[in-house]
Amino acid sequence: MAEPTFRAPKGTRDILPPESGRRRALIDAFAQQAELAGFGEIMSPIFEDLGVFKRLGESTDVVTKEMFDFFDKGDPPQHLALRPELTASVCRAFAEHRPTPPWKVWYEGPQFRYEQPQAGRYRQFAQVGIETLGTDDPQADVDAIALGWHFYESLGLREITLLLNSLGDPTCRPAYMDALRTYLSDNAASLSPQSQVTLERNPLRVLDSKRDEDAAIISAAPLMVDFLTDETREHFETVRAGLDQLGIPYELSPRLVRGLDYYTRTTFEFAADALATAQNAVGGGGRYDGLVEDLGGPATPGIGFALGVDRILLACDAEGVFATPEPAVKVFVVDVTGGSHALGVCTTLRNAGIGADRSYGGRSMKAQMKVADRSGAPFAAIIGEDEVANGEVTLRDLRGDTGQQRIALVDLAEHVTRLLS
Ligand code: HAM
Repeated sequence: MAEPTFRAPKGTRDILPPESGRRRALIDAFAQQAELAGFGEIMSPIFEDLGVFKRLGESTDVVTKEMFDFFDKGDPPQHLALRPELTASVCRAFAEHRPTPPWKVWYEGPQFRYEQPQAGRYRQFAQVGIETLGTDDPQADVDAIALGWHFYESLGLREITLLLNSLGDPTCRPAYMDALRTYLSDNAASLSPQSQVTLERNPLRVLDSKRDEDAAIISAAPLMVDFLTDETREHFETVRAGLDQLGIPYELSPRLVRGLDYYTRTTFEFAADALATAQNAVGGGGRYDGLVEDLGGPATPGIGFALGVDRILLACDAEGVFATPEPAVKVFVVDVTGGSHALGVCTTLRNAGIGADRSYGGRSMKAQMKVADRSGAPFAAIIGEDEVANGEVTLRDLRGDTGQQRIALVDLAEHVTRLLS
């Protein structure tokens, strides 16, 4: 095959059928479960004012290195960015519309981060997620985590580990940050050059380093859990008790800081044990009790998560679960009289809710049967001169062994419906 003139940009992919159908099924399943739990869908813009995303943290890679930002053609031009995630957009929407709390929304869609692409890491990737704004009840944290956990379970995934931590709140954070900064500064010479730079901006981010040179220093660093105030500790313990009550297993992960700066108190990540560790985070989330206020809204606590659709599907492949859905086309209409009869038959079947397809170009019976086989449809409806003369079709079972039979056209839809059930 000749080299194409253009390819999809680096870090992006075309998702073609039937894989696209599998994604759609995953998103539909998530939508259904989120709606059952009282979440309504939010559809927000794919780009926002850059300022919205700056609130994710001036020391995070997402903001400093990975933003797809641009100026529009306005006068003066507005500095915009493609969304790297949706929590900030949801909080911006909350501050703008002031819905009655608690406000529970779910979302799905593409996100954009200028990352170094590799397996499971893309520049355009899809997330599904939920956010609950306006309550700091730890039960809301449990509800959110449970929704994520049960979603993976419903796909058939069994090798998911829930990692849990509390990042404290503005009351206990300063003392911890002081202790961490002092410890890391004392050991700065042993940190990687990148982490030395990070330390200046946000010591917490150093804990997020995956570089081998940093591992020893990080493993002995002070832990947030040892600095929690009584109130934050109690909040965390209620979250843990709720997970225990639901029988959801978790691992305490005291060094889990996550890649965004807005987190307070409960933070969690879902790791797929079937994937390589560098890209095994199939979802994550937590509380962000200061973000709405940061975006100009009223003080409003929030909790939510986002799950990475691309990585979940990789994990499903690795575990051999959540297969591609059956093709929607159930009857492939093979018309050897020129093609015009297939028009009516397809329409009748589709109007009866039965997937139907056909070939074009008046091809031979053999050629059309080949396409019918390839389509995955369980039945072929064959129309020849004799069938037309009698107002019938020949219905052939393409998968089972029930052979073929002549059916009156008027009975076709009902007959197929019966066979399919
Ligand atoms: P995040 O951890 O940055 O959190 O992303 C959530 C998930 O999106 C990750 O666990 C991963 O599965 C997927 N993901 C992230 N980056 C990529 C990439 N480059 N390629 C493929 N998949 C990726 C957030 O986005 C927060 N907004 C989650 C949240 C919601 N926190 C509170 N509410």
